[in-house]
Amino acid sequence: MPLLAFETSCDETSAAVVHQNRILSNVVSSQIRLHAQYGGVVPELAAREHLRNLLPVARTALERAGIGAHALEAISATQGPGLPSALMVGLKAAQALAFRLRRPFVGIHHHEAHLYSPWINGDPPAADFENFQANVSLIVSGGHTMLVHVAKDFRLRLLGSTLDDAAGECFDKVGKLMGLPYPAGPSIDRLAEGGDPKAFDFPRPLLQEPDHNFSFSGLKTSVRYFLRDHPDLTGDRHKLRDLCASVQAAIVDVLVGKTIRAACQAAVRCVTASGGVACNRSLRVQLAQACKDQNFCLRLAEPSLCTDNAAMIGILAEQKLKRRSHATSLDSDILPGWRLDQPVHSA
Ligand code: KG4
Ligand code: ZN
Repeated sequence: MPLLAFETSCDETSAAVVHQNRILSNVVSSQIRLHAQYGGVVPELAAREHLRNLLPVARTALERAGIGAHALEAISATQGPGLPSALMVGLKAAQALAFRLRRPFVGIHHHEAHLYSPWINGDPPAADFENFQANVSLIVSGGHTMLVHVAKDFRLRLLGSTLDDAAGECFDKVGKLMGLPYPAGPSIDRLAEGGDPKAFDFPRPLLQEPDHNFSFSGLKTSVRYFLRDHPDLTGDRHKLRDLCASVQAAIVDVLVGKTIRAACQAAVRCVTASGGVACNRSLRVQLAQACKDQNFCLRLAEPSLCTDNAAMIGILAEQKLKRRSHATSLDSDILPGWRLDQPVHSA
């Protein structure tokens, strides 16, 4: 069933066509440059940009997939969580199209979609659900950091999440303190390459705690104090590289350590990771090494599918239609605060 999916939960306007677990097209229009001048995402501007971009992006997705709107058999969109006004654009457009074409509509939980993106690979990219196995999944981005146990039958259990800042938020805020442009994660990744990760010692928050929660705001504060005490450091290119490498090492140690511990406790043999921060090269290398040491299989989302995209929404929507064979109501509303462990009727 060719299915058209929309994703507009934050600052990427995306539309994708999927068919039988294959991605036929995945168009992403990023608003990063617009929001960079404000140092973060401005919700009202994001919603306006989605309104402006969604139709051209959807048209391009259909063209690249080589199908007309009437060939679509279902429509899907992110229903939550996310920025309310941004979610509204994608959800209402998808419901209107489903109404017009008399096709089923499927509302998708954004984080649940991230969970399956590591299973999408190949050229053309397809979801490898035949080899799907129980796993512990790390979702790590600018808005969320969480560990989820995903059973073989796709049932989910939220193991832990961040108590304050997400890991990507920490990269971005620390980068801002260093004078790097928003979003700072990719710049820190690049600068860290030539730096010494042991040059400066930063805390590894909650790494030794037995639960699966995260906390990154204390790390950000310790970098703030460090820069207050070393005001000239960012002017020295070598020291800036050392600082980036040291901060990155602290974040990556926590993410890897807690993910591996959760996987051991959940008695799974597989670990997966997705979300914008899963593009981080040090995280990918360290997680691969730790999984090798523990004999876990590791599935990392392709970098292009780590960040927000409609293809992951479509892949999950198709599965939901196959497995449940019923759709979401066309009257259903956005669910900005929808928790992964919360059933849709009480969200
Ligand atoms: O998934 P995403 O595009 O959007 C949401 O936050 O939902 O993730 C964006 C986040 C930003 O905080 C950005 O700094 C971070 O992912 N990020 C990275 C890297 N690439 C993106 N952080 C560290 N290293 C990277 N290579
Ligand atoms: Zn996301």
